[in-house]
Amino acid sequence: MPEVRSLEQQLLTRMLVRHAYRERLAAERFRSAIPLAQGEGERDRLLTLATEEDEHYDGCCEVAVAHRIDIEPLIRQRRCLVPGIPLFTTWLDVLLARAFNDQAGYHVLRGVMGCKFQDYGNLARRIVEEEKEHGAEGAQLLIQYSLGRRADLDRMRAAVAVHLGAAIRCVGRADTEGDREAVRLGLKTRSSAETLAEFSDYADQVLAAAGLTWFSPLRSNIDTLTQDHWNRGTKVT
Ligand SMILES: [Fe+2]
Ligand SMILES: [Fe+2]
Repeated sequence: MPEVRSLEQQLLTRMLVRHAYRERLAAERFRSAIPLAQGEGERDRLLTLATEEDEHYDGCCEVAVAHRIDIEPLIRQRRCLVPGIPLFTTWLDVLLARAFNDQAGYHVLRGVMGCKFQDYGNLARRIVEEEKEHGAEGAQLLIQYSLGRRADLDRMRAAVAVHLGAAIRCVGRADTEGDREAVRLGLKTRSSAETLAEFSDYADQVLAAAGLTWFSPLRSNIDTLTQDHWNRGTKVT
């Protein structure tokens, strides 16, 4: 007979699957970007980032095993339903994903550091330290890149929209039943709405410094940037 899992276990499973999928995809995307790198320095950095994301993924798998969650088939399933981090076809994609998607993951995990399951809270704390660095460096590189390419603004606008939309989806929808229950049961310490607000403030600062302000303030553009995916009925919760 299949095991009946409590709501708490179901929510932990969902959080871990979302998280592990993000780490897996980040590692894959950074490796895929190696041909886009200019010189050894950029190539080495991508390889280092990919290795770190692999370690974050392994950490998720360890927590899953400890809680008797068979995570791999669930990640494969999610991969079919949810696009996650967009493909990298230009160096700008790499910088946007580092500045926004990595940082979205960082803000999500800040809310998991106080998870009632200590092993997951500890993993979140460990990753937060590394992702903070990824995001800060990514934002700095994005600002430099953007300020040096004012002639390419039209092309940049489309890419910014794609990566901001993906980063917002990474945080998750605000005010869902699952989100409320996860906070109530102590799996995380704050709601997706709170995380989204914190991420939006961060993104607005980076967009202003980079001179890419089409979607600022981000809080007012969340629906515009996500409706293509969320209104198509794609299951992203
Ligand atoms: Fe990561
Ligand atoms: Fe990262």
